[in-house]
Amino acid sequence: MSPALRTAVIPVAGRGTRFLPVTKSVPKELLPIGERPCIEYVVAEAVEAGLENVVFVTSRGKDALLDYFDSNPDLEAHLDAAGKADTLKEVRRVAALAQVVGVRQQVTLGLGHAVLCARPAVGNQPFAVLLGDDIVDARVPAIGQLAEAWRAAGGDSAVLALMEVPREQTRSYGVCAGEFEQPGLMRVSAMVEKPDPAEAPSNFAIVGRYVLPGQIFDILETTPRGKGDEIQLTDAIAVLAQQGRVLGRVFEGQRFDTGNPLGLLRAALHFMGKDPAHAAGVAALIREFAAG
Ligand code: G1P
Repeated sequence: MSPALRTAVIPVAGRGTRFLPVTKSVPKELLPIGERPCIEYVVAEAVEAGLENVVFVTSRGKDALLDYFDSNPDLEAHLDAAGKADTLKEVRRVAALAQVVGVRQQVTLGLGHAVLCARPAVGNQPFAVLLGDDIVDARVPAIGQLAEAWRAAGGDSAVLALMEVPREQTRSYGVCAGEFEQPGLMRVSAMVEKPDPAEAPSNFAIVGRYVLPGQIFDILETTPRGKGDEIQLTDAIAVLAQQGRVLGRVFEGQRFDTGNPLGLLRAALHFMGKDPAHAAGVAALIREFAAG
């Protein structure tokens, strides 16, 4: 029987430079899609897939992220006294969503290093990684689709979310090479972080969802700095790929990159457009702007 998958690691230590100056004082993960911050969509996806423990890898200035998932007795008392039962319910629902703990990344040495910082909170167990910039709208949560492939493969490999991208965009992603064992399931043989289009081994890009074996921590301990002089998660997983232990799942669902202002706006239009409280207003706005 494969081991259980219980923990989701969510790296949130990044500086958010593409959103400066707002990210001088607001963590980019708290930028809103309607009334909710981006990070709530990611945590909700993990919880929906059965991952009950959430580990944030944070840095200085990011404490507001932990506050968001904590209870707030003063606010709750105020809403209660004001008779705002629906809002109170929502505020409490967020605090009860998941068991969230924070670990600190003291120096920004890259995604691989951020994941390594979670080691004391994860132990030697398999775990999931969800990157906060990527939000996926899917019938089955994207990380749940990966977990399913991971279980079916025996629970000791790594599974990555893959998406086909236009070749000229390979510079923005980790890119995988390999053979499809089944429709939508690649046995990954090689991985390159952010290659130039001419050097990309394929146009199958990694989106920010991973299921990883605990052994990845040992590999990360000795992974040299790679692209951008940072310790890259892609380089560590590539060691497992050489051993034939990495699968790429072309997931079903629509992915939104909320890591830049237009991407966040696109996500807001999509999710608020689906929300009964906002759908009519969003449609009216789109008509207004289309009319010029
Ligand atoms: C990270 C990973 C990259 C992956 C991407 C997905 O890059 O290093 O392999 O394709 O996330 O969003 P980042 O976008 O954080 O620079």
